[in-house]
Amino acid sequence: MLKIRLTEARKVGNDLPDVGIALETAWKTLLDGARQEKNGYGWMNLPERDIAALKAMARELARFEQIVLIGIGGSALGTQMLMNAFCDPLYPFSGKSGQPQLFVADNADARSNEAIWAQLEPRRAALLVVSKSGRTLETLSNFLFFREKLSAALGADVEKHIFAVTDPAKGFLHAYAAEKKTRRLDFPADTGGRYSVLSACGLAAAGALGIDAERLLAGAAAMKKALLGDTAGSAATAIAREVLRGEAAGRNVTVFWSYGDRLKSVSEWFAQLWGESLGKNGLGLTPQAALGSVDQHSQLQLYTSGPDDKFFFFLSEKPGAKLRLAIPAEKLFDEARYLDGTPQERVLDCERRGVVASLKRRGLPLCEIELERADEFCLGGLIFLLETVTALVGLALGVDPFDQPGVEEGKNYALALCGSADYATYLKTLEDIEAD
Ligand code: PA5
Repeated sequence: MLKIRLTEARKVGNDLPDVGIALETAWKTLLDGARQEKNGYGWMNLPERDIAALKAMARELARFEQIVLIGIGGSALGTQMLMNAFCDPLYPFSGKSGQPQLFVADNADARSNEAIWAQLEPRRAALLVVSKSGRTLETLSNFLFFREKLSAALGADVEKHIFAVTDPAKGFLHAYAAEKKTRRLDFPADTGGRYSVLSACGLAAAGALGIDAERLLAGAAAMKKALLGDTAGSAATAIAREVLRGEAAGRNVTVFWSYGDRLKSVSEWFAQLWGESLGKNGLGLTPQAALGSVDQHSQLQLYTSGPDDKFFFFLSEKPGAKLRLAIPAEKLFDEARYLDGTPQERVLDCERRGVVASLKRRGLPLCEIELERADEFCLGGLIFLLETVTALVGLALGVDPFDQPGVEEGKNYALALCGSADYATYLKTLEDIEAD
């Protein structure tokens, strides 16, 4: 499924704590939490959950030619990662015949939403609104915009074009879906947004695009089995150990390079998972997403010659046996004859090896992950691995990797500022801060 190669830092800090004991305890907490179905730990059990209902919703969604996914943060980033990995590079403006176009309306950005609306043919379009809490302002405002537009075009039929994934019991979306009898799936109550890609949150839309949800889950299940077979000797433990040793030595920036455009959104998904899970109580590791080879031409200078405060992940796909896009043997540039017939995939691979070598030469710590293939099975395994590493690092640091009080605070202020009576108490605090 995937190969991992860890390179330790040449320079280690003094008095590194015994991260082995912290990791052992972290594993125990994680496994107990999953077994007891504790809030936040539900992602560990997603590979075994029944997906009949989400497959049925995916089939219904696939009858539409256009889908607008309305959701933000953990309610959109996972789907975007899958879409980017498995759809055509120019999707949604190109794709397989019969594959719906999916537009993502995450930001409360009028210009983007109007542009999406301009692409829609109302009779053929569906709204898929995803919000665990059902109170997120951007999602609420985008939903109201698109629903009102669709309603003006379709009249009472509008409800047949709406699908929701939300909390089983509370929030505006839950109330709406119950009243209008909207097709709805439960957002798993025991799983946080950023750990939810392998639930209805990520898989309903992915299934509608023809992405194989069962293979994603099979990959996650295979990874889970491998990690739990020998927790102390597992890949997740080894990676978490290096990250924690780095953190203790002041390496508190984590750069995640994904090589190739189809894996680009893995870096963005990881940045949310890592930042939001670990940044608490004055601790945390700052994520930095990078795309190889593009960011070699922007970020690498800092990494090779700036402060030694980083840990690096490199994600790539094993070059295929049949490499694509051979550079033509043109007689155009004499100096470039060495490239004649070189597949472009090899160029990307050489760029990656060059970057890795430049960091290794300086003794910087890194973790290279090579996917056997960029297919659903391998990506499912990678997702489960990275979630496990994140949870272990958080638990070993002593923070709760499954809450996000900082995110909630920002949401509450915005709700108060927009006039929500339910959040009025936050206005006073906000006014005091702004008056300072
Ligand atoms: O990971 C998280 O919990 C957050 O990033 C949420 O996913 C994000 O704030 C959206 O929340 P909701 O799904 O409740 O609309």
